[in-house]
Amino acid sequence: MRSPLDSPDGDWWSEKVNRRETIWLGISGGWAAVLFGWMAGWTQLGDQNPTGPTERVTPEDYREKVAAYKEEAEETDDGLVPPSEDVFVGAMRYGWDGLPAVLEAGESYKFHIGSYDVQHGFSVRKGDTLSKQMSLQVLPEYEWVVEMEFDDPGTYHVVCNEFCGVGHRTMHGAFTVRE
Ligand code: CUA
Repeated sequence: MRSPLDSPDGDWWSEKVNRRETIWLGISGGWAAVLFGWMAGWTQLGDQNPTGPTERVTPEDYREKVAAYKEEAEETDDGLVPPSEDVFVGAMRYGWDGLPAVLEAGESYKFHIGSYDVQHGFSVRKGDTLSKQMSLQVLPEYEWVVEMEFDDPGTYHVVCNEFCGVGHRTMHGAFTVRE
């Protein structure tokens, strides 16, 4: 049998493309355009992409904002109960300032996330449900406000999913959602 690695006989390079191949190329090109449009459209029309306003803020100012929030929040054994719908979280090597927090199920919250030093990842998942995880980037110099609502009561883990230094793997936090 001929090896498929051998060049075919004759001037195969100049041969006309088979009509069926042209059709398939057209179909795949069209489908690629559909998928691309879908992707672009879904960021506007779908509701799974967390979007929200982002503001420039120096790490020092953001640290002060989180400190002011912590002053106002009610301290409980399970964590801070936010005084309003605003929840502040400050990422730093290697922890989450403002966590743990205690939230109400079914309530809509505005999560303010920002970093005091380097880039971190704000990754949230409930208990052991690895398959249902949300991941957001936390950047220094920016305060990102993301609206979130949790329907299932329980403990939600917050882990850093952006390598930020030797203690990256220890950067854990949590919040409780109660009924
Ligand atoms: Cu913070 Cu990794």
